[in-house]
Amino acid sequence: MSYFKVARTSDIPAQGGWQIRLGQDVIGIFRQADDYFAINDLCPHRGAPLSEGFIDQEKVFCPWHCFDFHLLTGESTIAPHLCVTTYPVRVENGEIFILYPDELIDRNSDWPDEP
Ligand code: FES
Repeated sequence: MSYFKVARTSDIPAQGGWQIRLGQDVIGIFRQADDYFAINDLCPHRGAPLSEGFIDQEKVFCPWHCFDFHLLTGESTIAPHLCVTTYPVRVENGEIFILYPDELIDRNSDWPDEP
C-alpha cells in the first residue's frame, strides 16, 4: 500500500465530490469543511456516481435513490446490507493523497504520482 496523489484540494467543491480513477477503481473524493474523504464512487445499489450526491454530516446521499453512506466507514443506515470501500486520505500542501494497493496500479502509466 502506498499513498498516491489524486487531486488538489482546489479541485474538490465545498460540500461536494469529485470522481477520479485509480488502478481498477472509480473513487469519489469528498470535502466537508476542511476535511477530505475517499470512498468507492459507484453506489452498490444501482451504480450511481456518489460524487454527484449531496453531503450532510459526514454522509453522502446517493443522487439516484438517496441511500446514505458514511464517508469514514462506508456504511449505510438506510440500507445496512450495503457498504462502500473507504480509503485513508492525507492532505499535504494543497494536494490530496489516498492510500491504495500498489499491485492495482498500472506502472506503465504516468499517472497517478507517488509522493
Ligand atoms: S443507485 Fe444509489 S441508492 Fe440506488
